[in-house]
Amino acid sequence: MLTDYEKKAALQLEKLRDKEDLTVLAIESSCDETACAVTRGRTVLSSVIASQIEIHKRYGGVVPEIASRNHVMAISGLVAQAVEQAGVRQEDIDCVAVTYGAGLLGALLIGVSFAKAYAYALGKPLIAVNHIRGHIAANYIANQELEPPYICLIASGGHTAVVKVDALEDIKLLGSTQDDACGEAFDKVARVLGLEYPGGPQIQKLAKEGRPCVKLPTPLKNSSGYDFSYSGLKTAVINYVHTNEQKGEEFSKADVACSFQEKAVEIMTDAAVRAARDYDLKTIVVAGGVASNERLREVMKQKADENGFRVFYPPLRLCTDNAAMIASEAYNLVKSGAKAADILLDASATVKITDVYGQ
Ligand code: KG4
Ligand code: ZN
Repeated sequence: MLTDYEKKAALQLEKLRDKEDLTVLAIESSCDETACAVTRGRTVLSSVIASQIEIHKRYGGVVPEIASRNHVMAISGLVAQAVEQAGVRQEDIDCVAVTYGAGLLGALLIGVSFAKAYAYALGKPLIAVNHIRGHIAANYIANQELEPPYICLIASGGHTAVVKVDALEDIKLLGSTQDDACGEAFDKVARVLGLEYPGGPQIQKLAKEGRPCVKLPTPLKNSSGYDFSYSGLKTAVINYVHTNEQKGEEFSKADVACSFQEKAVEIMTDAAVRAARDYDLKTIVVAGGVASNERLREVMKQKADENGFRVFYPPLRLCTDNAAMIASEAYNLVKSGAKAADILLDASATVKITDVYGQ
């Protein structure tokens, strides 16, 4: 049985489908960033982020329990700040969006619980957003001319995949990592080199001082599909470092960082280019935290130019976790006729890239 709130939300959502200047308030709390944004259409009116990186750095990675506690402390003030900075009144908000997965369960639950209460109190529909698809949607904010179909390479701390986007909400998985995500490999390699969390930006910095001279394997090299593997690459780097340390031999950490980054980038960009060629698509989009990697952007652009493809990536502030991307994905969902989340919406630690809430 639907509650009165759910009935009203369903009716409102139908009307919102044709509204171009849809005003969305979005909340993101899947990992170590509490974020809130207000968007109108594809324009970001405000986007605020309370990062916990400095707290988790001490532990060399995200501690779930600590992340949840910090989300609780930040969320209420952050949402108020986003509304104020956007210059909107609460009644101007058409719908509330929230990341329901994938991520740390306890962390997700803070955002989901807050968003449910907020949407209910405003009497507005709640849209449940898949975080991974949110990363893709960040590109629609930055590049307003972007339209499907295109190939998207998603590389974050939790996911690495190549997908074919045929329409806003028609996303097909072509290939994905068989083990570690690319960002996870960056973080683990950084740790073995004695660099701080998060490892990606640190590896990028150190790599500039090195040369790609350490020989590393290309896992799944002979595969004709679009799957890849980062575990073998990560282990090869760890073995190289440990063997040298045990033998007491000098080695350059900068060369290791550079060689690893070069190989990690080669694996992903080759898969994306192969997919674009095979499906005869002319646009490649890069998304996720690792999309902020300068070398990835450079190599992707180079390969795209060689093949006559266009390449899009979000600006740095929209690559790593933020709530504007969640609002952008909510916009896609509303335009595609998605259902409003019911008041019993639960968080989900594991969500596939192809998952859409309610379908
Ligand atoms: O998308 P994201 O913010 O969170 C997840 O959804 O996982 O991605 C975080 C990941 C981390 O593993 C981080 O090390 C990586 O993105 N990252 C980078 C860079 N900036 C962030 N990796 C390589 N180069 C970077 N510049
Ligand atoms: Zn993310």
